[in-house]
Amino acid sequence: MIDLDPRHDRIAAPLGEALGSVATIFEGQIRSEYPAVADLCTHVARYRGKMLRPTLTLLSGVAARGGDVTVLESHDLQRLAAVVEMIHMATLVHDDVLDEADDRRGGSTVNSLRGNETAVMLGDYLISNAFHLAASIGDADLTERLGRVTNTLCEGELVQLHHRDDLGLDFQTYLEIIRRKTAVLVGACGRLGGRVAGGEEATCEALGEFGERLGIAFQVVDDILDLEGDLETVGKTVGLDLRKGKLTLPMILLLDGSDASVFVDAVESFRSGDSTGLLKMLRESDAIDRARAFAVEQVEAAIVSINGFDLGDSQDLLRDLAAAVVERNH
Ligand code: IPE
Ligand code: IPE
Ligand code: MG
Ligand code: MG
Repeated sequence: MIDLDPRHDRIAAPLGEALGSVATIFEGQIRSEYPAVADLCTHVARYRGKMLRPTLTLLSGVAARGGDVTVLESHDLQRLAAVVEMIHMATLVHDDVLDEADDRRGGSTVNSLRGNETAVMLGDYLISNAFHLAASIGDADLTERLGRVTNTLCEGELVQLHHRDDLGLDFQTYLEIIRRKTAVLVGACGRLGGRVAGGEEATCEALGEFGERLGIAFQVVDDILDLEGDLETVGKTVGLDLRKGKLTLPMILLLDGSDASVFVDAVESFRSGDSTGLLKMLRESDAIDRARAFAVEQVEAAIVSINGFDLGDSQDLLRDLAAAVVERNH
């Protein structure tokens, strides 16, 4: 869960309650009469993450109604929040298969516990349930939009796979990959959260822009944590990006800004899988700081995108949420 400042309790308290209802909806939706399936569902429900996407969905609903917290009682809004978390969880279960990751959310991944076949099917079960639940909101256009989001997300992951071991990956392509695989879903939390709450089109668009920028910053910070973080704090296997031949922003900046000898060393270390050597080079350069500065810029742009809209005091909460994305260590 993301810690919200107690000075925002007017919204944070009912928001916490609504998140509890979202968890109940989530668990109810994936419940199965088959013990083998129920067991797996209990496993995924037990390990809760930061709940960024449902939090942003609910908060965007409040914002789109000028700070009216009664909208948090809306069953449709709560269902949408459960849907986005379920989509997210499906992508994580599959992503851990691709990345051969052992740890997630302070526990073991499904693939490490039960193998890849079970993890692939569980991911399918989650995405299928997400759309089953979305359809129950009874807004065909909403479901269509969510379908477009997951199409884009899969494209992002596929483009990323295509660029595996590609030392020529440039900043623009990296940005497009993370926009698709991560930011578009976070953007949808803002845009669709506002829409389900009955907000005006322009406000929903602004909340969508806010979420998308936030999503970009979020993935850049995630990529930095993969290099610098440790398993205990981050709660998931780190160091996988380099091991999997995935070039992320710090590496792109290192290769782009370095003199010839550093460049040759970095390429050599990348090709031979020498993560320790690469990390040392990254630390000795300013590449990680520059990547973090880029994330901060995105967060600032996110905040600017919601300026000038009457979001009541939810505006401050959204700003805090944005700041937490770059200040986090897990
Ligand atoms: C991890 O997302 C995957 C990325 C898009 C970077 P989160 O860091 O939001 O994962 P949880 O939900 O808190 O576990
Ligand atoms: C995955 O990115 C993003 C998804 C959309 C699943 P990462 O591979 O960096 O996510 P983590 O670090 O494993 O959570
Ligand atoms: Mg991963
Ligand atoms: Mg990562």
